[in-house]
Amino acid sequence: MSVRIDVGLGPRSYAIHAGAGVLAQAGNLLAPFARGTVPVVSDENVAVRHLPALQNALTAAGIQNRPIVLPPGEGTKSFAGLESLCTALLESGVERGGLIIALGGGVIGDLTGFAAGVLKRGIAFAQIPTTLLAQVDSSVGGKTAINTAQGKNLIGMFHQPRIVLADVTTLTTLPPRELRAGYAEVVKYGALGDEDFFGWLETNGAKVVSGDTQARIHAVAHSCKMKADIVARDEREAGERALLNLGHTFGHALEAATGYSERLLHGEGVAVGMALALRLSARLNLCPVNDVVRLERHLRTVGLPAAIADIPGPRPAADVLIAHMAHDKKAEGGKLTFILTRGLGKAFVTQDVPDDALHEILSA
Ligand code: NAD
Ligand code: GLY
Repeated sequence: MSVRIDVGLGPRSYAIHAGAGVLAQAGNLLAPFARGTVPVVSDENVAVRHLPALQNALTAAGIQNRPIVLPPGEGTKSFAGLESLCTALLESGVERGGLIIALGGGVIGDLTGFAAGVLKRGIAFAQIPTTLLAQVDSSVGGKTAINTAQGKNLIGMFHQPRIVLADVTTLTTLPPRELRAGYAEVVKYGALGDEDFFGWLETNGAKVVSGDTQARIHAVAHSCKMKADIVARDEREAGERALLNLGHTFGHALEAATGYSERLLHGEGVAVGMALALRLSARLNLCPVNDVVRLERHLRTVGLPAAIADIPGPRPAADVLIAHMAHDKKAEGGKLTFILTRGLGKAFVTQDVPDDALHEILSA
């Protein structure tokens, strides 16, 4: 069972197929884009669990394929990782008019998309996301990047995939903590633009997290639909797309202050960041306090952190967090940009946040 969602970008339009069993159909779905040998880029954790099923589906459809398996983890999304992937892709025999497949989480998707974008001045690629975060966010919208010593995702390009295949059955092998971290990005869609979806999550979120297939399909498909619509209206983040960064300015600062360590996964940082964004909104009399309570309660119900105090280890100081925010690429013209909200589902972009209110929220 699967749902098709279209990302309407004129000549760069593509379909997202979200459901259970999509991997088994990958051969037929990818056949229109495949030419010659198709490299399949993955990481060691994903390859051992899901590469054989994908290769079987490709082979059954007559698609020659060649796996390229990289070490797992954020460190692979680096200049060194890009160089070794580009070398392996050039040696794979991939054609200029061919296809590259990314099978994995956001690390593999972001790195492979970037490599595909620069290799031979641009080769088509397909996203087969295997984490919840990648299925609802990173595989859709064409942002690709690597990290450098100066920060995350500072070197990259927009390169849209030709197709996205999100099979929720691949999530059954994902460590529960990674699953919950990805779920924070699902909550983000409700919090930024759809209060009814947030209400659905309050009722069904525990099922999404515990493994109910139908609930997962609905959560992934609805999130992808919301992202697809936003990206179609604002591909290059000139305006509305910035709403997808709800919780990220705070989240990135928390990730940096905790050393990008096991203390805080990206999605967990987004969870705390969203709670801080709503608290700041309430402090500025923009958002009902009850909406802050609902968000924090829901995050905690599914096992996500909802406050700085929930992060294990020493508490990062407000000044340290503000300094990290100033380095974030969302700081423009010396002013910090925030995504605040007038209530659940009503996010907006602003640079108008008094320093004392920010300091107070980060110190509370
Ligand atoms: P990830 O790719 O590192 O995956 C997390 C871990 O889960 C890894 O150890 C991976 O090997 C493992 N894994 C993946 N799928 C698995 C499966 N099905 N079963 C078992 N293990 C599995 O991390 P992520 O959270 O998917 O993505 C994070 C990255 O995404 C970051 O680099 C972030 O910057 C990027 N990102 C990009 C965008 C975008 O728009 N391009 C949006 C959000 C995040
Ligand atoms: N993850 C934010 C975006 O794709 O714009």
